[in-house]
Amino acid sequence: MALILCKDSLDLEEKLGTHFGIAHTRWATHGEPSPVNSHPHRSDKGNEFVVIHNGIITNYKELRAYLINKGYEFESETDTEVIPKLTKYVYDNRENDGITFSTLVERVILQLEGAFALVFKSWHFPGEAVSTRRGSPLLIGVRSEQELTTDNIPIQYNSVQEKNSHNRPDSSSPIDCVGDGRPVEYYFASDASAIIEHTNKVLYLEDNDIAVVKAGKLSILRVKHQVGEDPVRAIMTLQMELQQIMKGNFDAFMQKEIFEQPESVVNTMRGRICFDSNTVILGGLKDHLKEIKRCRRLIVIGCGTSFHAAVATRQVLEELTELSVMVELASDFLDRNTPVFRDDVCFFISQSGETADTLMALRYCKGQGALTVGVTNTVGSSICRETDCGVHVNAGPEIGVASTKAYTSQFVALIMFALMMSEDRLSRQQRRREIIEGLRVLPELIKKVLALDKKIKAIADELYEQKSLLVMGRGFHYATCLEGALKIKEITYMHSEGILAGELKHGPLALIDKDMPVIMIIMRDACYTKCQNALQQVTARSGRPIILCCQDDPEISQMAYHTIELPHTVDCLQGILSVIPLQLLSFHLAVLRGYDVDFPRNLAKSVTVE
Ligand code: G6P
Repeated sequence: MALILCKDSLDLEEKLGTHFGIAHTRWATHGEPSPVNSHPHRSDKGNEFVVIHNGIITNYKELRAYLINKGYEFESETDTEVIPKLTKYVYDNRENDGITFSTLVERVILQLEGAFALVFKSWHFPGEAVSTRRGSPLLIGVRSEQELTTDNIPIQYNSVQEKNSHNRPDSSSPIDCVGDGRPVEYYFASDASAIIEHTNKVLYLEDNDIAVVKAGKLSILRVKHQVGEDPVRAIMTLQMELQQIMKGNFDAFMQKEIFEQPESVVNTMRGRICFDSNTVILGGLKDHLKEIKRCRRLIVIGCGTSFHAAVATRQVLEELTELSVMVELASDFLDRNTPVFRDDVCFFISQSGETADTLMALRYCKGQGALTVGVTNTVGSSICRETDCGVHVNAGPEIGVASTKAYTSQFVALIMFALMMSEDRLSRQQRRREIIEGLRVLPELIKKVLALDKKIKAIADELYEQKSLLVMGRGFHYATCLEGALKIKEITYMHSEGILAGELKHGPLALIDKDMPVIMIIMRDACYTKCQNALQQVTARSGRPIILCCQDDPEISQMAYHTIELPHTVDCLQGILSVIPLQLLSFHLAVLRGYDVDFPRNLAKSVTVE
């Protein structure tokens, strides 16, 4: 999909020995997905300026009206198209001929509101590309045959407000990472997994950084100097391996990621739990532990699956920390202007570390003076960088849009936090020991659940033509119901609802009849009897429940249309096992219905727009 610039530019770049391509796979925010709405967007049919954009421009209507008034004709319905057109407008109206590409970009972004990561190219500036961000993630991969000669790129300051700043040669002191004259490649991307097959050396740009690659050299400029900011951008080495983001023997990334869970939960625990002494240490939190223990309440915030991980662990967090715990959907939390205080501790759960709603909630809580803690799966992500402290869940790269292994790792990470918080509480020691022992054997139990795959496939064979699927449970399994229903919706496009069994008689019971497929989660825990009651109510209305239950529970099995029997573990960990059959079921249903499991329609892995 890379767009080739006009021939003059190509010839010139060939003479300079540089080549450049830009392309972007985008989650459509404005206009339907179609060739005309696809990126790159351009200033004019001659491709004078071309731009790719991740994010959303909130003042695009005003800019578009302004530019139309100036005679510009728009080709697409996107917000992005105003950017190349505005660039041309600023270029055509420059005060003198000496304007540099970076100064031009700087002037353009001063007019933009919203969130963006941008890459610009123009045949006016051959051999050069400029990239910038505000609110959306952006990193630069550096690849060279030679060892890099530096670990840090110092940032340079610039401001269009400064007199004659446009005369500043923007490559006055570029960084030649590999020494003069050696071939080097630069990659601009939103996510490390996009570039890992080319290089593991990356640097993350901050908001308002402007990165210029010119004649093979990289400079980073800043629009404005901010007090106390880091004067360098460090080149980091990614720990990710290419094989981690290949499908291997699996048909889909999601399937591979489901089957990776015995190892991914181990990676989450690795080096953090001492099973002999029953201690848990999360290195990223230990310096803040005293402060966290003194807090008024914990607020755990996320979106989608990450929110469900908060729901799943809320009860054990309350039990072991003896604190009040709020779990919040980031968008709703912001809509309510929820009161947050200096003595609150706010957790931000995010696989990608880039979800816009979660990031906005983080900035809001910081503004209120709360301590902020990130729980992410992506080292170097915005949430990692902007929180006061945090935990990496270390599940490894997750490519399938429907989150699976990240969920179980977030679940384990939050349990570990609860264990760490309760280490000195005498009254909790027995419970802690039981949970830690449960974590020790968890990978083996996950393997046993995965071995049920064939049985689950057979159930999918029966269900795949249905329109709707209800998932019901309560207590520790309410989160599994929400998460299972989300998986089913996301990739099978069937209607699915996670229902709290306690609410059955307040509405959902009306849906039950012999034709409505219902999955019920009934485990031997404190809610067992109440769940049995719900089961009675379902069967009394001719419902034919598929029941997830503990092994050797003949009483429940008798009443089930089908049973999926799971190994038994500690109540607060059982949700890790009960979600896996639903991950597998959604996978098989989607395959049987003929859908692309990894890239469901209308959804994106990382939603960096509000
Ligand atoms: C998107 C994805 C979901 C994910 C949610 C939160 O909607 O499609 O799978 O759960 O974002 O993402 P995060 O990266 O913050 O966990």
